[in-house]
Amino acid sequence: MFTLKAPAKINLTLEVLEKRKDGYHEITSIIQTISLADILEFQPAEKFVFHCDNSEWKAEKSLVSRAAILFASNTDARCGARINIQKKIPLSAGLGGESSAAAITLVGLNHLLHTELLPGDLYHLAEQLGSDVPFFLTGGTALVSGRGEKVSPLPSLPHHWVILLVPPEMETPGKTEKMYSLLKPIYFTSGLITDSFISSLTLGKMKTLPELYNVFDEVAGEMFERIEWHKEQFYLAGAKSVNMAGSGPVLFSLEEDESRAEQITQRLSERGLKAILTHTLDSNGHDFI
Ligand code: C5P
Repeated sequence: MFTLKAPAKINLTLEVLEKRKDGYHEITSIIQTISLADILEFQPAEKFVFHCDNSEWKAEKSLVSRAAILFASNTDARCGARINIQKKIPLSAGLGGESSAAAITLVGLNHLLHTELLPGDLYHLAEQLGSDVPFFLTGGTALVSGRGEKVSPLPSLPHHWVILLVPPEMETPGKTEKMYSLLKPIYFTSGLITDSFISSLTLGKMKTLPELYNVFDEVAGEMFERIEWHKEQFYLAGAKSVNMAGSGPVLFSLEEDESRAEQITQRLSERGLKAILTHTLDSNGHDFI
């Protein structure tokens, strides 16, 4: 038996360049893993069994069970596995929890079942599960492009505290697809915001954090009724800049100073809002616990 962490992510930039003929959108995005993580425990078992401590998580709807089925059908592994999940990442939040758990399921099964799939084989399975899944095989700071499946590692973002504000939205089935469908061509950009962020990262001249950008901030109000109110609360609590995580509705703000980050988190909590203090990760490895 062993456990692995499946970290959440935030998008430091997320630009849509165009709509593709296959229905997907061509994106360019810098993604960053953070310390908030689900914990997946892998045990040998005769067949696949999934258990999660959050009763709203349903195995049959989850990418974790799809990842296990895909893994089994692409290897000659005979046995199954019991996967116990401690859910720390809010569901359907824009933090990539499902995609991360699916990627880590592939990594964990490969270890548990001694199938010795190579990184390229795992990547091939991951990209079939969802556009965001391949990124989580490595994590850290990376540029993703294509529909999100092309991943190029970047130098680590200098350590930042990440304050998350989790609005009490109801789960919206097909949310990512709906958010993409709200994007009109006027919201498409050239990729320059991402290029300029990469220049600051690679030239190592990041004295102040470059502009963060998420195209979904433009249409968030059409999907999440109270998102502007939540952003306002974040600014009132002292945040300097607030962006949505992926397709939302979680909001985040970055802070270099720990005591400021704690203060903002505390102020949000005092107003009865769900705030989580976490931080950026710089390692590319998987945390075996
Ligand atoms: O790849 P994934 O299954 O996560 O995508 C869910 C949906 O989001 C897709 O069916 C598509 O409608 C939309 N999408 C998109 N462009 C992307 C990624 C996702 O339009 N780059």
